[in-house]
Amino acid sequence: MKNIGIMTGGGDCPGLNAAIRAVVRSAYNKNIEVVGFKLGWLGILEKKFEKLNLDAVSGILPRGGTLLGSSRINPLEKKEWPSRIQRNLKHLNIHALIIIGGDGTLRAALELSRQIPLPFVAIPKTIDNDLMGTDFTFGFDTAVSIATEAIDRLHTTAESHQRVMIIEVMGRNTGWIATYAGLAGGADFILIPEVSVSLSDIIASIQKRHDRGKTFSLVVVAEGAKPTFSKQKDFYRHNSIGEILAHEITEATGFETRVTILGHVQRGGSPTPADRILATRLGTYAADLAFEGRLGQMAALQGQQMVAVPLKKAVEKIKPCDLTLYKIAQRFFG
Ligand code: F6P
Repeated sequence: MKNIGIMTGGGDCPGLNAAIRAVVRSAYNKNIEVVGFKLGWLGILEKKFEKLNLDAVSGILPRGGTLLGSSRINPLEKKEWPSRIQRNLKHLNIHALIIIGGDGTLRAALELSRQIPLPFVAIPKTIDNDLMGTDFTFGFDTAVSIATEAIDRLHTTAESHQRVMIIEVMGRNTGWIATYAGLAGGADFILIPEVSVSLSDIIASIQKRHDRGKTFSLVVVAEGAKPTFSKQKDFYRHNSIGEILAHEITEATGFETRVTILGHVQRGGSPTPADRILATRLGTYAADLAFEGRLGQMAALQGQQMVAVPLKKAVEKIKPCDLTLYKIAQRFFG
């Protein structure tokens, strides 16, 4: 093996640079060259790349984002793209391609590998922590830290003004970030897609808390949560779940309510030590898989161990939030 390629696809997250660095350092020790493709699949389609030597990855361990850039381009969008990818990888003499991605990128990689020979090893990343086959993805711990800090900050201002504060966090169709940050931040209610609750349950829980003398509440809601409503209004289609909740809580209780939609701040900035370590472990392990020719697999964390799982297993469905944790958090509601 002389050359390996590497790309980062989908939404970025803290820890991508740590993983790239780990692959490049591992390859350097074996005299293997690393070709870094720019902007995800686009870099392979348009042959936009840079050779990644030690200088290129020096100092990037603590840096957020990805030095390669990322995009949500679907490599299957155009009929001729799979064969173009095959041609370009062959032309650049890429013996193995390390694909760092979340659900969308890795699903596309699997489908692509059914259409063309794609000598890949996958590395899971996403703040959402929703990939099967791995206990955790890097980016998640950082997002939870940022969301927890935001909850702590909202607590003090909620208390001063006797308000209900709603914080909407990311997570797409899962409630991993909401549950972890809510538990760590002492949320008074957490709303996630995996657990069905009605709007009246949420309101009753907040009312109960205020009836026992509390003057403020902190509600964490996952962006993908869909509580059941007894009524449907037109504005529901145009507002985030956090805004809808704020409106309904104020209407039902009269408590002054404010919303914070945390958004992309959860994906930015420096990775936590735990994410740096996980990304480095996954990067070195994935590089070893590539060097050993163990292709078509995803590097993963199971328990304390690095393991290789078939990519099919990782993307066959999304990994729902661990409800044992949600149940612990529930004891603190109301
Ligand atoms: O998958 C990561 C994620 O941040 C989700 O939590 C969120 O729903 C989505 O990406 C946001 O995507 P974009 O960056 O394209 O707005």
